[in-house]
Amino acid sequence: MHKDVLKVLLTKEQIAQRTKELAEQINKDYAGKSVLMICILRGAVLFFADLARLLDVDVRLDFMAVSSYGAGTSTSGEVRIVKDVSQPIEGLHVILVEDIIDTGHTLKYLKRLMESRNPASLKICALLDKPSRRETDLQGDYVGFEVPNEFVVGFGLDYAERYRNLPDVCVLKPEIYGGK
Ligand code: PRP
Repeated sequence: MHKDVLKVLLTKEQIAQRTKELAEQINKDYAGKSVLMICILRGAVLFFADLARLLDVDVRLDFMAVSSYGAGTSTSGEVRIVKDVSQPIEGLHVILVEDIIDTGHTLKYLKRLMESRNPASLKICALLDKPSRRETDLQGDYVGFEVPNEFVVGFGLDYAERYRNLPDVCVLKPEIYGGK
């Protein structure tokens, strides 16, 4: 275990198993359809790569990068598009892939933005969901795990840009992020 990690919350085996289940559900739901999967950089990248490999429907991959204006929990929830998708999404079956739904502001904003572009359908897939932190009515359509309100890193999630490469989802030692 990494020296800064307090405990492992979800092992890579648990994540792999759940990712497989989500992929099976998506394969079933989108059978015969073409899907555009959009990775919301950067946290979702590991989950996205694993999920994409398990899909057997016709799938295209694209990427978006966003950043919150000001503090992450700003009430407006407005986010800045740092990198947009590289193709029109009109008429496509779109799945936005995230690592975590926290307050829900990021995805609420993105959902509204993407819906204005008239996709055939729009769903949200997130590896983790932290419902105790929610400040919006945003809900995931495909959710891997509910997690408690703890500082989680690994499998794409960072603290100050570190720990994204840890293979498990872990809880960081409070002294690392200045918690008690
Ligand atoms: C994280 C995560 C979501 C967002 C969720 O991104 O990937 O995009 O925060 O929070 P919310 O539900 O409160 O809006 P972050 O800004 O940390 O960027 P990153 O993906 O590059 O780590």
